[in-house]
This record gives sequence, structure tokens and C-alpha cells, in this order.
Amino acid sequence: MDGPMTPDSHPSEWTPDQIRRRAAELGPWFHNMQLKGVWTAPDHFLGDYPAAKWRCYADALPHDLRGKTVLDIGCNGGFFSLEMKRRGADRVLGIDFDEDYLAQARFAADVEGLDIEFRRLSVYDVARLGERFDIVFFIGVFYHLRHPLLALDLVHEHVARDLVVFQSLQRGTTEIAPVAADYDFSETAHFDDPGYPRMHFIEHRYAHDPTNWWAPNRACTEAMLRSAGFEILNRPEEETYLCRRVARSDKEYGAVYPAQGMHA
Ligand SMILES: C[S@@+](CC[C@H](N)C(=O)[O-])C[C@H]1O[C@@H](n2cnc3c(N)ncnc32)[C@H](O)[C@@H]1O
Repeated sequence: MDGPMTPDSHPSEWTPDQIRRRAAELGPWFHNMQLKGVWTAPDHFLGDYPAAKWRCYADALPHDLRGKTVLDIGCNGGFFSLEMKRRGADRVLGIDFDEDYLAQARFAADVEGLDIEFRRLSVYDVARLGERFDIVFFIGVFYHLRHPLLALDLVHEHVARDLVVFQSLQRGTTEIAPVAADYDFSETAHFDDPGYPRMHFIEHRYAHDPTNWWAPNRACTEAMLRSAGFEILNRPEEETYLCRRVARSDKEYGAVYPAQGMHA
């Protein structure tokens, strides 16, 4: 095939050479996937990523997803969306605000013959979907957000119906300090306990990535999940949690929306 391939000129059956060429045109890839045996990012710095991570917790989710709907927030090249569709989910929607990643995801789904919708949407705008999903993937995104707790609140308020797969980069101790229900104003020692919920703010860069804004410790990750209305069912991988959306009981904070101006 001559010239770049466009969505309108894609072949109905991709050959390995065509896949290799189109994948190179759409790169660089963060998701190193095998599409009909062709790696999308053969020199990926994490190797077989994200499949190697996924294998750690693939069995934590139902293998038969017929009748279920899935939302993949920050879907990137579509790895998790594809996996969910392969399990038979009725509907899979991947959202990301980066058009280049969405083009990769659409290509991957096309090559694999999987019917998945990919849409440009920020996690802050999930209310626009007007729809709840049985399974929500919210992995690898939290610490890239300047307002991560707002995003978690929005996921709870608008799109999560039942299960949520959550992952965040974590730094600091993995110890979890016991936290009392309340403290007197004069008590301050617990704030210095490394196992107290703590989120490190990254003003400049971490790992050369200017979009890494926050690095919570484990206690903070878990406390924020609970506070946003997600019961932690288990932690099948170091930084990955399987949660269930629950009604917020005595903490009915909800998502706080910034004022949009007089005419919004
Ligand atoms: C580190 S990647 C994680 C990709 C994938 N979820 C995973 O775990 O492999 C972060 C992704 O989140 C997307 N992203 C960042 N901020 C976002 C936002 N506000 N709304 C939607 N997607 C966002 C990025 O474009 C990128 O694709």
C-alpha cells in the first residue's frame, strides 16, 4: 500500500507488514500491544507493558462480561478496552483527551476486529456521558491530574455503577498508620507519622514527566478511595485496587464544581 493509511483506506484484513507500518505512523505508543503478532512498541522501556501488569490481576475480574458495560478512563492505546471486549462486554467505551492515543486505540480495535467506542473526553467531563457503567477502569490517570480527588468524586457521582479498577503511582511508605476518628487541635504528632495519609505534590517534574502532579502513599490512596465512596475489595497488585462503588453514608460531600462564570 502506498502513502499513509487513513481510517477510510484501512484494509479489511490487515497483514503484519501493514500493521507494522501503520503502528509506526501512529507512534510513539505507551501501550506495547501485540496486534496479530506485531508489537506496537517493540522497544518499550517497560517491555511487555501493560500486559505484564495486567496478568497480575486479570483473574480479579469476571472472565465473562456478557451483559456488562465498561468505561476505560484514560484509555490510551486501548489495551484494557480491548481486553474487556475480548471478555464479551456488551459495550466498551474508552475515553482519553489525547487524540493521538485515541487514534492508536481505534486502530488496535480495528485490527483485532473488536467493536469498541473511543471518544475524546476528559475525566472531568464524565457527567456528559449520562450513563453508568458496570466496570470502570481508572488506572494510571489519578496522579496525572491536578485535581485528582475531584475526578474520583465525579466518577462516583456520574459513571460508576459497581466495580472500579483503580491504580495510582504511589510513593512513601506502604505502612498504614491507625487513624483515629478525631483529634484535638493540640495533637499534631500523627501528621508526622509516615503512614498517615499523605500526598506528595510535584511542583516540577518526576520521572521527567511534567504531568506527574501527585504521588500519594498507600494510606492516602486507600483513604481517598474510601472517602470518595469506593469500598476496597482487594489489592491484587501493589498499586492496583479492585473497588465497589457504595453509597456515601455520613460524608455526603459530592463533587465540587468550580464556578463557570455568569453565563455557564
Ligand atoms: C499513564 S497513561 C495510562 C494509560 C492506561 N490507563 C494505563 O493504565 O495503561 C495516562 C493516560 O491518561 C490520559 N489522561 C490524562 N489526563 C486525562 C484527563 N483529564 N482525562 C482523560 N484522560 C486523561 C492520558 O492522555 C494518557 O493516555
